[in-house]
Amino acid sequence: MVNAIQTPSQNTTTRPRISFLGCGYLGATYAICFAELGYEVIGYDVDAAKIEAFASGVLPIHEPGLPELLKKNLETGRLRFTTDVKDVAEFADVHFICVGTPQRQGEHGADLSYIESSVVELSAHLTRKVLIVGKSTVPVGTASWVQELVDRHTPEGLGVEVGWSPEFLQESNAMHDVLRPNRIVYAAQSEWASRLLKDVHRGILELAAVEDREVPVVETDLATAELVKVAANAFLSTKISFINAMADLCEVTGGDVADLAKAIGYDQRIGNKFLRAGIGFGGGCLPKDIRALSARAGELGVGESFRFLDEVDAVNTRRRSQVVRHVADLAERPTGPNGPDLSGVRVAYLGATFKPDTDDIRDSPALAIARRLRACRADVVVYDPEGLENAKSAAPELSFVKTLAEAVAGADVVCAMVPWEEFRTLDPEALGQQVAERRILDGMNAFDPAQWTKHGWTYKGIGR
Ligand code: UGA
Repeated sequence: MVNAIQTPSQNTTTRPRISFLGCGYLGATYAICFAELGYEVIGYDVDAAKIEAFASGVLPIHEPGLPELLKKNLETGRLRFTTDVKDVAEFADVHFICVGTPQRQGEHGADLSYIESSVVELSAHLTRKVLIVGKSTVPVGTASWVQELVDRHTPEGLGVEVGWSPEFLQESNAMHDVLRPNRIVYAAQSEWASRLLKDVHRGILELAAVEDREVPVVETDLATAELVKVAANAFLSTKISFINAMADLCEVTGGDVADLAKAIGYDQRIGNKFLRAGIGFGGGCLPKDIRALSARAGELGVGESFRFLDEVDAVNTRRRSQVVRHVADLAERPTGPNGPDLSGVRVAYLGATFKPDTDDIRDSPALAIARRLRACRADVVVYDPEGLENAKSAAPELSFVKTLAEAVAGADVVCAMVPWEEFRTLDPEALGQQVAERRILDGMNAFDPAQWTKHGWTYKGIGR
């Protein structure tokens, strides 16, 4: 449950005015939450339709809790949105760069063109000394390059400085992660910038104090600040691929990876988070970040030490063909060298997003597997609580329905792929009465196998 702040601090004396350049998940969430913390904020994006939506109180993404906070803070007057970079340059003391850094077409490295265009645009309009802080996930060394860009494009002698402050928000929990982060990390190049960054984060620390929590602050150098983010995402990805590799071992030995994860997770040095085996990780961050880190390490001459990340990636991508094989086994169709022939198999496909409680389908394993099943000629009928529209435009060859009941009616195999609450709470008996055959692939590893087999289902989980 995400809680808004009841009474944002009225102490605005040490509150710099802040801009967020790039209003995707990251920038939009930060802009809205910093207004909630009592700062005067402006959100900037080149996409006029998106800015118009935000400005009229409509959140163009699905993120729990955020629509209410957007409306509330537009009303206070502390939050506004614009496509006018001149307005941004005049308004803010601290500018956060929150634009996307996607994977480069046909390569593993990160595409920094949005960073470059936003920094150059902003720099050309600056008329006073301000702080530009990178928040986007970038290859190490980017901050120094951004400082060079700023020096080249700002009027002589302005002394604009670059800092870095990575973010760790998780989609679907984004509001909580910004208002109540588990740590703050930043890098400044001078006392002046360091003080300004303290002022920027004061609202978060004040809220923590009121709620009797502590938020650790790590102040470091630019390179480390950049690396912290990719290190965290690489570590999380490694945990997931590790448990998925163990799932493979469990499958050939009759073990149960869910019990295994529970058992190792009680060791606090290991921890029980990010050990859910399944269809693999996806989204707009983990997959591209491990590739960019490995590519950057190669450029810097330490590629060998990061070869394991390529394997983390490979373990993850292999899940997709493994899951297709599981579906074929359930449907009692043999898998040949070119995959199984699933013609005539009606698959009820539950979930299209890369994880629950979001409408984001970027690099979604669920959607990728649905497409593979379709390529094997299965009749795939997809239902997702929030991701249908996005999925439809990305994978027009699939059939989409608006309710779970329509998806499962007459199905030969049910694939439950994304742990939305609506799927986790499915009742085996009620569902059994709607399908043609009681066969289920639990790609979420969320069900109790005994419960399902008791009701006559052939159950297949991942690594159990
Ligand atoms: C991830 C990181 O968790 C955030 O800390 C980071 O700030 C963010 O990337 C980013 O770089 O901006 P996010 O992409 O929202 O956040 O998604 P996660 O919750 O990390 O999940 C990523 C994928 O891993 C999903 O596909 C999820 O289903 C999968 N996953 C997660 C597993 O397969 N098993 C698990 O145990 C946990």
